[in-house]
Amino acid sequence: MNRTVLIIGLGLIGGSLALGLKRNADVSIIGFDADIHTVRTAKRIGVIDEMAIHTKDAAELADVIVFATPVNETIRLMDEMSNWQLKNDVIVTDTGSTKKEIMKAAEKLRELGITFIGGHPMAGSHKSGVEAARSHLFENAYYMLTPFPNENKKEAKILSDLLEVTKAKIVQVNAEEHDHMTAVVSHFPHLVAASLVHQLAGENERFPFTRQLAAGGFRDLTRIASANPIMWRDITVQNRQELSNQLQVWTNEMINLQNLLLHADEKEIESYFSTAKQIRDDLPITAQGAMFTVYDLYIDVPDYAGVIAEVIGYLAKDNISITNLRIVETREDIFGILVISFQTMDDRARGVQCIANNTTFETYIS
Ligand SMILES: NC(=O)c1ccc[n+]([C@@H]2O[C@H](COP(=O)([O-])OP(=O)(O)OC[C@H]3O[C@@H](n4cnc5c(N)ncnc54)[C@H](O)[C@@H]3O)[C@@H](O)[C@H]2O)c1
Repeated sequence: MNRTVLIIGLGLIGGSLALGLKRNADVSIIGFDADIHTVRTAKRIGVIDEMAIHTKDAAELADVIVFATPVNETIRLMDEMSNWQLKNDVIVTDTGSTKKEIMKAAEKLRELGITFIGGHPMAGSHKSGVEAARSHLFENAYYMLTPFPNENKKEAKILSDLLEVTKAKIVQVNAEEHDHMTAVVSHFPHLVAASLVHQLAGENERFPFTRQLAAGGFRDLTRIASANPIMWRDITVQNRQELSNQLQVWTNEMINLQNLLLHADEKEIESYFSTAKQIRDDLPITAQGAMFTVYDLYIDVPDYAGVIAEVIGYLAKDNISITNLRIVETREDIFGILVISFQTMDDRARGVQCIANNTTFETYIS
């Protein structure tokens, strides 16, 4: 059955969803973005089938409407939507990283008989914008749907069936559960990462050399502090209460840790680390988590001229694309001098094989 999907917001997520859905030949995508250059680019590079000039007009034609805009914008647009003429059986959804406030805004649509099912594909990238869109972005990633409890079962099934082609793992939860769980595993770690970077900045005056040492573990732990500040401002504002609760839990944990530092013996301190290690090591690694994943590979390369070009050359020859490359100067808590980041787990696995085929360098995945 042919379906028309209108995607509003053609950035990384909206663009990737468009490309993912276009794998189904029966789906045609109309795209709209507040930035006309983005819409034109999306059409030119084949992300969308048709450009929408006015959302209101395009919305009339759509079987499914997806808001892939920043969360605050989505709420504003949902408010405007009550004045649009929509198909009777239209399904409206979004991709926002928070769900409680979005579902609150959806109450108004529900009163008008418009089906709204919240959505959150839990995948991302270090890039944003339509040119970063990839058809495989959601493969193996959890894709949360938040219908109103005990409502829209049929429509949720239609939406899940539509999304199946993206190869995401679709799960249904309620908005409160969603915001709590994502606060724990995604939103709150962003606050911690940002706070650690602020703490480092405070060192600048007395020990400016500290930042030179802030490689390895510090960089890994704070990587997400480099995410888009506007997006994280909106997420933080919308999930303020859950984040405040998490901060309290964290504060309690820090007090516990301080007591441990001041009073515990070696055995207890070791146990604190070994319990954390055990829990961390047991986390699932085959699926993408709530935070966007980069697939790092540590390579223990010897120090001779041209060694990095050599490694990159082997990867290029096997057509394995990489997203980042860095040399680690402080290696206290990691193995390997060269760190190469890949976009997918498959690419990294191919990278390991390629390096093993061409060199004797040891590789390590943390
Ligand atoms: N990037 C991630 O890691 C990630 C992961 C999951 C969900 N999300 C969510 O997906 C949504 C989009 O994120 P993104 O990473 O694609 O951002 P992005 O910045 O790459 O793209 C957002 C797009 O929305 C457009 N836009 C802004 N206001 C608009 C409006 N009023 N009308 C039409 N278009 C408008 C922008 O021009 C831009 O092209 C956000 O709600 C975000 O919370 C992001």
